[in-house]
Amino acid sequence: MIYSYVYHVAKNKRKNFISKIVLITGATDGIGLIASRKILKKGHTVLIHGRNATKVKRIVDNLSYFGKVDGFTADLSDVNSTQIFSAKIIQKYRRLDVLINNAGVLKNHQVVTKDGLDICFAVNTISPFLLANQLLPLLSKRGRVVNVASAAQASVDIDALIGKYTDLSDMEAYSQSKLAMIMWSSAMAKYIDQSKTVFVSVNPGSLLGTKMVRDYFGISGKDVNIGANILVQLAVDEKIMVLSGKYFDNDKGFFTSPHPDALDEKKCFRIIKSIKSIL
Ligand SMILES: NC(=O)c1ccc[n+]([C@@H]2O[C@H](COP(=O)([O-])OP(=O)(O)OC[C@H]3O[C@@H](n4cnc5c(N)ncnc54)[C@H](OP(=O)(O)O)[C@@H]3O)[C@@H](O)[C@H]2O)c1
Repeated sequence: MIYSYVYHVAKNKRKNFISKIVLITGATDGIGLIASRKILKKGHTVLIHGRNATKVKRIVDNLSYFGKVDGFTADLSDVNSTQIFSAKIIQKYRRLDVLINNAGVLKNHQVVTKDGLDICFAVNTISPFLLANQLLPLLSKRGRVVNVASAAQASVDIDALIGKYTDLSDMEAYSQSKLAMIMWSSAMAKYIDQSKTVFVSVNPGSLLGTKMVRDYFGISGKDVNIGANILVQLAVDEKIMVLSGKYFDNDKGFFTSPHPDALDEKKCFRIIKSIKSIL
């Protein structure tokens, strides 16, 4: 009797289940890799992205055990490579339910990219913006764009954003690039109807034990699952109330205000205008 009730509930749950197609950048390591596995295990299709083809192939092979996976390689520090990447997605997929802009850099030996940009702005701000905009037609049926930001946020120097100034310290460039991401996310939400696409930014949690944190801070860091779990929730959980343009701080565990600059509509639109001026 109990068995048949449980079976009935499970069957109904399954009946209402809608499998999503989720693209996650920087899924070859850290938070992105763990989040990908969790999303797959929930029955969604995951499009894995990484910059290293061998690594992408190995991870696609490993994750295939858990569900439907596809792999894409692109260097997000290179605007042209990002454009080719989104063109490949458009060519292969008619629909995308979620884009998780997760790939990120903090410390890098090569600070200036071949496009003449600070690598932090290129990878953390500009390429995610480009991807979101180019993939917008695929995301237009109640899609979600989850932008992985940080608690590290600093007022954006527009000259640094557009590559006129490239001498910022690693942490300054990182903090500015993450705030710039939150700001374009908020501005996009102002003119894209949230019944079509929702934009949300998230600090996944500070000092989680990934390669980025180990390399920069020299510490082992906290459980990476903390960050992966919140990405999964914001990406595919239907119960979570996601208001477009908002910022979720996972150190606090709720939606809250980011740096005050991100609450200034004019400043947010200026970020978009500046990014567009160099694309
Ligand atoms: N860990 C934390 O405590 C923390 C806190 C706040 C925010 N975050 C953010 O969380 C996100 C994930 O970071 P993580 O901590 O998981 O770091 P991670 O382990 O270093 O992973 C970063 C991912 O981004 C990829 N990537 C780096 N540069 C790239 C490029 N030029 N083109 C394409 N892909 C590139 C990496 O590829 P490879 O595998 O080839 O290296 C890797 O897959 C980042 O946006 C980060 O800023 C992390």
